[in-house]
Amino acid sequence: MRDIFRKKDLTKQNGEFHRSLGLLDVTFIGVGAVIGAGIFVITGQAAATMAGPAIVLSFLLGAVMVGITALIYAELSSAYPVTGSAYSFTFASLGEIFAWFVGWNLLLEYGVSTAAVATGWSGYLRRFLEESIGVSIPKALSGAYDPVAGTYIDISAFGIILVIFFLLAIGIKESARVNTTIVFIKLAVLITFVVYGLPHINFDNLSNFMPFGWSGVWHGASLIIFAYLGFDAISTVAEETKNPTKNIPMGLILSLALSVVFFILVSFTLTAIVPYQELNVPDALAFALYKVNEPFAANIIALGAVITITTVMLVMGIGFTRILFALSRDGLLPKQLSTIHPKYNTPFKTTLLSGALLSVMAGLVPLKVLAELVNIGTLFAYLMVTIAIIVLRSKSDIQASFRVPAFKIFIPLNILLIIFIIAGLPFETWVRFIGWSFIGFIVYWYYAKVSKRA
Ligand code: ALA
Repeated sequence: MRDIFRKKDLTKQNGEFHRSLGLLDVTFIGVGAVIGAGIFVITGQAAATMAGPAIVLSFLLGAVMVGITALIYAELSSAYPVTGSAYSFTFASLGEIFAWFVGWNLLLEYGVSTAAVATGWSGYLRRFLEESIGVSIPKALSGAYDPVAGTYIDISAFGIILVIFFLLAIGIKESARVNTTIVFIKLAVLITFVVYGLPHINFDNLSNFMPFGWSGVWHGASLIIFAYLGFDAISTVAEETKNPTKNIPMGLILSLALSVVFFILVSFTLTAIVPYQELNVPDALAFALYKVNEPFAANIIALGAVITITTVMLVMGIGFTRILFALSRDGLLPKQLSTIHPKYNTPFKTTLLSGALLSVMAGLVPLKVLAELVNIGTLFAYLMVTIAIIVLRSKSDIQASFRVPAFKIFIPLNILLIIFIIAGLPFETWVRFIGWSFIGFIVYWYYAKVSKRA
């Protein structure tokens, strides 16, 4: 009988990858994954419909939870610098069946968020094409499947996913280098927004600071948590990083700290220059600058968003294929998925297959639905990791070069915060999550049975 609680000894993990990434690369992999559609698109929608200008408070609430979680990831990845992230940590502490469930949810996080981000990217692309070049994408091809609204597929979201996964299939080194350059541009774009926006502050826009009360701040946090997700992608490339026990924890903390500062600055500026009610648009940052009559800067933002949101897809895409790789290496998915290409040194076929699948999802499903689904899956994985560290700390053989400070306060606080934020998500998201988990258990049962026969 297969032992569904078997634990994995991570110190015996063999690496199949080359170590090519340094501290700057991994920090920028974090920033590249974090700053994306969340701040560029979802912040506007969440301010307009949930929190108003108090979206800044939602960001602060999220920062506390994600900050503690990043410290936990930092400790665990300094102890176990292996690919697979939360999945591997859970495998070592709670056992196979929990690890499977976490891995299954990480597929949701990395995969579905790649698709979600592609749809956010396409909103800025349309704005840029219309304002700068005067080209409009036909309505039928410019949104998720919604015959009532006259949209059938978001063709640019569909196409960009195919391009991204092709890039990933031909090599991580190239992808990381492209990523580093683009992250520089991304930070410059956000600084441009703040610098051009701040002189237009109108304090009347902030006078009704909390139009939906604390409940709005709470629901806002449950949605914009999406903006923070992705820092953990750093720990999925541990086996490709030089000196991982130092560079992975440092990279995690640095990338998150940088993102928090930018989120607070940008969300404050956004709601201070335009009335929050007007921000429910697919391209809030560019829209706001047009609105305050800064068309030049608005065009830079639109083009900058188009160029730079691609890094989120690159990094989340890497995360997705690496989780698939880890699940398959451990015999929980077909073995063929973990074959490494001899020339490109990547899981080539798996990457191309993932691209085909996710492009269809990006083309057909709306951003908010995708983002909420990503959030619930990821928060669940964070919860498991928070429990995993308690179990792993109780083992005396852990050699972590980084340790979470104030452990006895932060860990219970994090468990409460995660549950609180999950509870703020809509009911339909819960239903979809339960459906996804159910499918996950069927897949697990099937593979457990196959390997029992083997
Ligand atoms: N945090 C990522 C984004 O905002 C997923 O796009």
